[in-house]
Amino acid sequence: MKFLFINGVNLNMTGLREKGVYGTATLEEINKAIAAHFKNDKCEFYQSNCEGDICTKLQQADCDGIILNAGAFTHYSYAIRDAIAAINIPVVEVHMSNVHAREEFRSKSVLSEVCKGVICGFGKNSYILAAESYKL
Ligand code: DQA
Repeated sequence: MKFLFINGVNLNMTGLREKGVYGTATLEEINKAIAAHFKNDKCEFYQSNCEGDICTKLQQADCDGIILNAGAFTHYSYAIRDAIAAINIPVVEVHMSNVHAREEFRSKSVLSEVCKGVICGFGKNSYILAAESYKL
């Protein structure tokens, strides 16, 4: 299968920021672990801190499944929500942390309604579990 993993705002700081919440592995290390897990599949990784760039990436995607951790954009980006709704590729929303066990604003996602499903709380394995769901 062909997967596109998209990470949004501040996810490039993974491994450096709030280590108690997001762990010590960098995004590059996480992506390497994902690629190793899916060694028989094609994995593309994209990260941007810019909302519009993520919308463009979604619009241009050519793959079987998209795994999206939009970071804080999750909680308020109607632009990313509309971009997901505009394409025919299923998107799984992921979060490394359990967003329901944190601040109240993190419990609300404006993306979930247009996503195939949501996985949160499993650290880097959230990405792997999300992509595995396309194989079931
Ligand atoms: C996050 C959760 C978001 O609330 C937060 O803004 C992030 C990361 C996660 O992976 O747990 O940046 O999406």
